[in-house]
Parts: sequence; C-alpha cells; structure tokens
Amino acid sequence: MSLIANRRTLLAGAGGGLILAALPGRAFAAPSSGFTHGVASGDPRQTSVMLWTRYVASAPVKLTVEIAEDEAFRTITLTGETEASPANDCCARARVEGLKPGRWYYYRFVTPDGATSETGRTRTLPSGETKGFRIAVVGCSNGTSGWFNAYGHLAARDDLDLVVHTGDYIYESPVTRPDAAPGIAQQRGLAPAGEIIALADYRQRYASYRNDPDLAALHRRLPMIAVWDDHETANNSWATGASAHDLATEGSWDARKAAGVQAWREWLPMGQAWYDAYQIGDLATLFRLETRLLGRTKQLDDDLDALFASAGDIGAKLSVFRSGPLADAGRSMMGPGQERWLADGLKASVGSAARWQILAQQVILGATVFPKATADWVNGALPADVRSDFDRRNQLTAAGMPYSLDKWDGYPAARKRLYDSARAAGANLVTLTGDSHNAWAFDLADERGSVGVEFAGQSVSSYGLERRFTGDPKRIAADFIAANGNLKWMDTSQRGYVTLDITRDRIEAEYVFVPALGGRSAIATGRKTISVAHGARQLDA
Ligand SMILES: [Fe+2]
Repeated sequence: MSLIANRRTLLAGAGGGLILAALPGRAFAAPSSGFTHGVASGDPRQTSVMLWTRYVASAPVKLTVEIAEDEAFRTITLTGETEASPANDCCARARVEGLKPGRWYYYRFVTPDGATSETGRTRTLPSGETKGFRIAVVGCSNGTSGWFNAYGHLAARDDLDLVVHTGDYIYESPVTRPDAAPGIAQQRGLAPAGEIIALADYRQRYASYRNDPDLAALHRRLPMIAVWDDHETANNSWATGASAHDLATEGSWDARKAAGVQAWREWLPMGQAWYDAYQIGDLATLFRLETRLLGRTKQLDDDLDALFASAGDIGAKLSVFRSGPLADAGRSMMGPGQERWLADGLKASVGSAARWQILAQQVILGATVFPKATADWVNGALPADVRSDFDRRNQLTAAGMPYSLDKWDGYPAARKRLYDSARAAGANLVTLTGDSHNAWAFDLADERGSVGVEFAGQSVSSYGLERRFTGDPKRIAADFIAANGNLKWMDTSQRGYVTLDITRDRIEAEYVFVPALGGRSAIATGRKTISVAHGARQLDA
C-alpha cells in the first residue's frame, strides 16, 4: 500500500476537504487522558436523545452537558449533568429531555475545570405530519478487513436524519486472524491482539475501533440507532452459547455475554432496552429487534453436520430434517415476549395511521436457497474444499433446504409468526438487515404471497461472498436471483452502505458502493436504487 497513493485518493475524492488522520504504518492514536474519543449521540425520540462522551481520569469526573440549536452555542437550550467514571470505562452518557421534535441540535461536554469536548450534532425524531425522512443503514465493520470509508462517506453527507447500525460494530476475533488484510490491524492500532473474552478485552476493542477517524466523524455528525449482532459477543451466538465460544477454554457463556453487552452499552449512545420502537412522526414506526441473545434457539448446524456425516440416502434424510427439527414451532429468534411486543406494536403503528412499519434487525429474513454453483464461480482451478462445499450446497438445494441456518431461514416457524403478525396488522413492512456482508433486495414472500420487502445492506468492510467465490460477481448474482424468485437484486462483491429515502407514498433505497481496501478514500464507485410503493408490499419491478 502506497502512502502517496492513499493521500492522493483521499484529497482528490474529497476536494481537498479531508485530512489524513493517520499515516500507514502508524496507529490511529487517542490521548491517554481527558476527552479521548470525541462525542456521539443516539437512541433519539421526538423530545429526547442520548448523548455520549468519554473522559479518562483516575477518579469519577462530573461533566456538564450543553445543548444549543446553533453550532456556536450562542444560546444554550439546555444544560445537564453526567459523570465519567472508571467504573464505566470512563464512558459518560446523558439522556437529554425537553427538546423540540425534528430539530438539529449541537452538544458538548465541559469539565469542572473548563475543558471542553468536541462539538457534536444530533437530531430529534419528527412528530405529527411528516413528509419525508432519510436513514442511512450500515453494518459489519470488521477492522481487520478494510477501512471504514463507508462511515467517512456518510459523515460527509448533509442529507440524512439518522444512522441505523445493524450490528457487527466490532469483531471479537483475533486481530491476527488469517484473512486479515496485511498490516491493517497494526496501522489501525487494533487491540487486544487475541480473541476478546473478558470485559477488559471488549472495552479495549471498542476503544481501538473508536480511534478510527471515519467512525468518530459519523458519530459526531449524526444520531445512531444501533442493534448488536453476533460479533459484539461471539460468532453465531444464540441465547445460551455461540459457535465461537468454547466452554472448556473460554469459561462461562453467561459471563462473556454479560461482558459483551456491558461494553456495548458503555460505548454506544443507546439506552438499556433490549428492543424498542421509535415513532417517526406519522410517517413510520421503526422497531429495533434483538434476535441473538434474548430468545434465539441454538442453530441446527451441528445436527446438519451429523446428518451429512452419517450413512444413507442424504436426500431422504434432509427431507425428514426439513419437515422435522427445522420446522419445530418451538424454535425462536426473538422469544415469546418480544414476538408479542412486535405483533402488538405493528397493530398499534398501523392503527395510528403510520404509513410504514420498519424493522431494524440482524440477519436476512428472505428465504434463500443456494444456486447451482459452477466451476466458473471461482477464478482458476477449483480448490478441493470449494468443490466439496458446492456438492453439499447442491444437496441442500435439491432437498429444498436453505443454505444458512443462522439466518431466519434456520427458524422458519418463527419467520411465519412474524409474517402472520405483519399480515394481521395490515403492515407496510420494510426490513433493514445486515450480517451477510453482501447487498440484497427481497420480496418477503411465502405461500400466501408477499408481506413486505427487505433491504439487506452490504458491509462497511467485512468480506463477503467474493472472498470465496472469486468469479464474475454479476454472473454469481444472476445465478442467485434465478434460483430465488423472491430475490429481486443482489451484489456479491462490494462494500458500502444503504440509504432509505422515506416518503408517504414510496421508499427508495440506494445502495452506495465505497471501496474498503487500498487505504482511506472518500470516493463512491457505484450506486443502485430500488423502491417500494406504499400498499404494494413488494419491490417495484
Ligand atoms: Fe458481520
């Protein structure tokens, strides 16, 4: 990686407006005391918002919060008080009440001796008649896979009201993982080196991710509603375990889960609720869901592996598996309490005449079988492991089985209950999803027809299907679409983010592609728009 090329790309793309904050070969650095990680805001309501900063000192420090409608703080609208304490990793949060709906605000924190944080900008949700609202959707920002150029690109825009993060804000894996882009963990100063397990590890990982200037800028410029996915605790987590958690060597899952949740709550500008609903005027209700740690039943991957390892007719066994264990109505993603809350919430939202019901959640809802993969999916000779992978996937598809049991596909009864709730409410359902690292647009359809749509966003930096399937991405996407009638569009190889332009009669999603490898950059390399009309409950043709 060339320092000069990086610098040129950055300056050219940004019109000279951005400054390279860290040079390759040198870690992004935070001060060791005082205000170390800028400011952030989130969990916005119509008259309140959560504000965040971090002030490092050896003892608790009282901070005054100042909020104004002008960036120069000529007229302070409100002041409040909070505390940064080593007990909370020196992170301080303050929920500020009494604001006006649909307004931009500026905020900062001040210490008793007059030291002042950076100034952040935030926005309350609108109330009453609302003609439009614009959300950015981001997720899956693995610090060892690429730069956070998507965050930087978003922070430089001035046409958005809110950021939704669909999870995998950090990754728990060792920064030396074999697929890490060479040198990137060192350049970014990611820490600690190993897999994170204890509270101190999670805290250190957040601190090193948040040194990233693009992530810091995004938090400074826009409020965020975040959900966690699995990597904020451990890969493929469920309520009582995770595939990446080894009880024998890594101790209690409950302790690790509690550590991951605590560090997330310390570092993200969010409240304590595990799931929640947000009213965007009379335009939409946004529901943020928890589908990992609260009510998720264990994935069936081990059972499926055992089935493949056993003797006999695999097709017949897969068929029994599909109608038996996979279909079990007791298998859950959200748990019964959250399911009831969502069903009631969808009804209440439609009853209040909100035009759209939007779910911000973790894993793909749209049913997906794997297409019949061919040798040209991979450049050069087909590696033996990919060939056997293709064989297994083809057997799954032939038996009508989904290709991933970690998605809603692995919980079809729970998905049916969600679809039935949306139907019963008469919802105009729109789902915002992360986790997969690639870009997808689905009609959410079952045998009764389409109940809504799903915009599943590509990752900020985490590798996607292109890592394994190195052939022509257009060909691979076309094969996926041909195999899945409900999948209307897909991109299998590019990073970036999605924006949602929500109006009363239409939602237009724009997938913006931004490079993540090759250094920090302010360019976008492509865009794709897809829309849904109110009342259609399926994507425009
Ligand atoms: Fe991810």
